This record gives sequence, structure tokens and C-alpha cells, in this order.
Amino acid sequence: MITGKYPSLRLRRTRKYSWSRRLIQENNLSCNDLIYPIFLVDGKNKKQPIKSMPGVYKYSIDRLEMIVNNIIKNKIPVLALFPSTPDNKKNKFGTEALNEDNLVCRAIRFIKKKFKNNVGIMTDVALDPYTTHGHDGLVKNSYVINDETVDILIKQSLLQAQMGCDVIAPSDMMDGRVGKIRKSLDKNNYHDVQILSYAVKYASNFYGPFRDAVGSKKSLKSDKKNYQMDFSNSNESLREVALDIKEGADMVMVKPGLPYLDIIQKIKENFKIPVLAYQVSGEYSLIKNGIKNNLINEDAVIESLICFKRAGATAVVSYFALDIAKKLNSN
Ligand code: PBG
Repeated sequence: MITGKYPSLRLRRTRKYSWSRRLIQENNLSCNDLIYPIFLVDGKNKKQPIKSMPGVYKYSIDRLEMIVNNIIKNKIPVLALFPSTPDNKKNKFGTEALNEDNLVCRAIRFIKKKFKNNVGIMTDVALDPYTTHGHDGLVKNSYVINDETVDILIKQSLLQAQMGCDVIAPSDMMDGRVGKIRKSLDKNNYHDVQILSYAVKYASNFYGPFRDAVGSKKSLKSDKKNYQMDFSNSNESLREVALDIKEGADMVMVKPGLPYLDIIQKIKENFKIPVLAYQVSGEYSLIKNGIKNNLINEDAVIESLICFKRAGATAVVSYFALDIAKKLNSN
């Protein structure tokens, strides 16, 4: 690999000037690499701060127009919707997930009607925003049961597709759901609705602020280790991805983000499929608080996002997406 040696070879030579550094730059970040998550809340004219996530808000549907306009203006291709379901609409079966007038469904209809196909809409498929116990599926004898949960997820996916969702994103980690969802979408003529599978989702300690935001934190009494992956494992991620590709996933997600760059790289090397990364709420809040407290420079955000690209990610779901896209566009 190395041709030549010091002192005639000096790697600092190409780092001397900005033009030269730009010339040899291997990876780059553009607005096209970003997905922006939006939290939804019931009611009117609401823009509610989330305490655990400084700078992130929950919006009522009538306040979405401005934010979606901003997303489109800044050329972010996709937005992801997450509902903060009122407690009185939660139950242990998560039936609100199948209500066509739930927050997510109303938001999809509103955005599609207003913005057509100028932005992609992605929605989570899982029951945790709707269950009183905070789990992603049905619970029987303290265990999250797989097949019965999948039956509901199929219906949830179909409903979201009917509302106009473009990308169905099962984030529940049940076995076999991607294939069954694909089959049901196709049977109902939704051939073109994409599936982004959270194929590799770890039982992580970095989801705290998100659970706080959607209200599943206070209800969740145990952990999600009997369905989400063990963070000690790497090879298992390849099996998860292989299965989901076979079942029809168009793209796969690795989650959380920065601590799992090795997984992104490994998947990218083994499968030629778009691999997306989720820079999750805990990562966001750590970086954001670090900046707020003057511990780190705000360019840490761009650095973190380019690291995903370097590892091989096609795009990144990030709560920083809108701020960063604005910054990229003003350069
Ligand atoms: C659950 C879901 C979670 C996140 C997205 N979808 C949390 C969980 O598994 O408990 C976390 C996102 C984040 O932390 O930013 N279906």
C-alpha cells in the first residue's frame, strides 16, 4: 500500500490547505442523506418542548404545515412520524394502532393532501406508542408474543399504506413480520409501498429520551431484551438482515447509530442493500447537552453524521436533520 517513505513522503502535504483537503475528501454529507423524525401530539396549536430532548418538539397536526414546508425547502427526502398517544387511548392490546383516526393516520392524510409526493412519509410499525405496558407487541405471561403480534402489525401496516404512507418501517423486532407485511401490501395493491426494516435493532440504553417523548417510559416496567438484539452480538445482525432481505425488505436499518458503526460496515460489506442508521434520542441528547454546556463544539454534529457515511450508511435518521440541512444549504 505505501509507496515511498519519509522525508519524501509526507501525508501532511495534502492537508495543508482547505482546497487540498476538500480535494481529497473521501466522504460527504448532503441533505439527501437525512431523515427527520417528527413527534405528534393531540390537540390544537401545540408545539410542546420535550424536556429530555432540548430543541425537539411535539407538534399538533395543525402545526405540521410549517415544519413540513421547511423539510421540503431544505431538500430532506423523508420524514418519520412518531405519535405521543394520550394515556386514555392506550390499552394492553394497543388497539389505537388500528384506529384510522389515530394521530399518525391523521398526520399522514394531512401531509399527503397538502404536499403530495414532494416528501416521503415513513411510519413506525410497532405497538409501543399505543400499549399501557409500553411493549412493541402483545404480552402474555410476561412474554411478548410473536405471531399474534405480527397479525396486528400486518393490519397496522396496511392501514398506514391506505392513509398514504410511502415507507413502512417495522421497528418491533418480531420474527417473520417483513414477509407477511409485504404479502399483505401486495395483495391489497400496495406494490409500491416500500419496507424499511429495522432489521438490526438492539435492546439499547440509548432510547430513554424517545420513550419519554412518546410516553412509553413510565409504563415500561421491564426491558425489551426478549425481542430486541443483545448489544454484545455482531454475527446475529447478519442473520437478521439476510432474513429480512429474503422476506422483501427494500432497505434495512441499524439502530442505535454511533456505537454500532461496526455493524453498519459489516452489513454493507455483506449485502448490497441500502443500509440506514438511526442516530437515536439518547445520542442526540448527549451531543446536544454537550454543545449546550460548551463541552464540545457544535461541529460535532456534522462529524457524527459523516461518520455514518464513512461506515457505509446510505442515510441517517437524526433529530439534528433539519438544523444540519439548513446549515448545508447555507454553505
Ligand atoms: C419503538 C421505537 C423506539 C425508537 C423508535 N421506535 C424505542 C424502543 O424500542 O423502545 C427509539 C428511537 C430513539 O430513541 O430515538 N418501536
